[in-house]
Amino acid sequence: MVKRKISEGVQLLAAVDWGRRLFDSLIPLPDGTSYNAYLVEGSEKAALIDTVDPTMTGVLGGQLREVPELNYVVAHHGEQDHSGSLPFVLERYPRAKVLVSLKGKEILSDHLHIPEEKFQVVQDGEEVSLGNKTLRFLYTPWVHWPETMVTYLKEEGILFTCDFFGSHLATSDIFAREEQVLEPAKRYFAEIMMPFRAAIEKNLEKIRGLSLEIIAPSHGPLWKNPSFILEHYQKWVSAPPENLVVLPYVSMHGSTRLMVDYLSDELIKRNVRVAHFELPSSDLGKIAISLVDAATVVLGTPTVHAGAHPYALFIASLANALRPKLKYATIIGSYGWGGKTVEQITQALGNLKVEVLPPVLAKGLPRETDFRALEKLAEEIASRHEGLKEE
Ligand code: FEO
Repeated sequence: MVKRKISEGVQLLAAVDWGRRLFDSLIPLPDGTSYNAYLVEGSEKAALIDTVDPTMTGVLGGQLREVPELNYVVAHHGEQDHSGSLPFVLERYPRAKVLVSLKGKEILSDHLHIPEEKFQVVQDGEEVSLGNKTLRFLYTPWVHWPETMVTYLKEEGILFTCDFFGSHLATSDIFAREEQVLEPAKRYFAEIMMPFRAAIEKNLEKIRGLSLEIIAPSHGPLWKNPSFILEHYQKWVSAPPENLVVLPYVSMHGSTRLMVDYLSDELIKRNVRVAHFELPSSDLGKIAISLVDAATVVLGTPTVHAGAHPYALFIASLANALRPKLKYATIIGSYGWGGKTVEQITQALGNLKVEVLPPVLAKGLPRETDFRALEKLAEEIASRHEGLKEE
């Protein structure tokens, strides 16, 4: 991808990863992703804002070919998809200083072994002049590592945010087509940001006072209408959960699936929205997206080797790690002779502040009594969801 102008003296150096299909060896990327660096050239000095994934150093190198000198490289975040090409950049521009938060210096030293003399630590609120352009650094910890910060280019009203407000979308567009980018942005939020909702809310507050023309993240397209993504982030972090049940399930011989379908119909009859995800074939990103809004998760699992099915346990531990706003959880499924399925799943959800509703486990193929129990569970969920919003 060639470098492209965003405004006078500011260029987007995007490395678009059209073919990447998995992030963090975990979340599928149906639409690829990008790693965005930015070049800001003032009347006296030039700064590179972040670098790109080490697999795409060559793309960044090509975009920097006609850039004779860099005075600074701003490193917002130590994770390698943004910092991985830093050693290459520092070799090409040996006089460049790495502008970094105090914690960022430690992290970059650990992950990339950047020498001490390369760093220039900037404090929260500090400004660095490039001549006719000024970079102001704002610490925004825990979006999504402890060292993360953002940079405000005062004269242009551009906020460079690295992961914050990013989206997993490979595109040739500079600016987001909002409705197209919303799901990739929510997929990104669900996996990376959701566990740190309290910190994100504080950081949203911190940047709300800035006069913003453009939000320029380091994944996906830029936001020309910053309020669009700011409002969605506010909702994702702080709005009450919705009238939605997420129902990931695995079935070996059909009994658990029968129960899932029955419960699902009983919930729908009671005006509760349901999102089904058969395991292991479902997209984990879609499950994570649904968890952003849901009030309840019901895990459907057979008992295998005296415990929950490993795929169900995996989803429980994923939900536990992502820490969504869930208020209720339970388990349904079939067993052959006994086991510790309920104990295992509830233990795996230990981080979540959820009320565990009575589980429904059928011995073998579900009988009438099991279907009555599922109706009762649907009634319990519907009554607890009363008053929750629909989207
Ligand atoms: Fe896009 Fe936390 O790295």
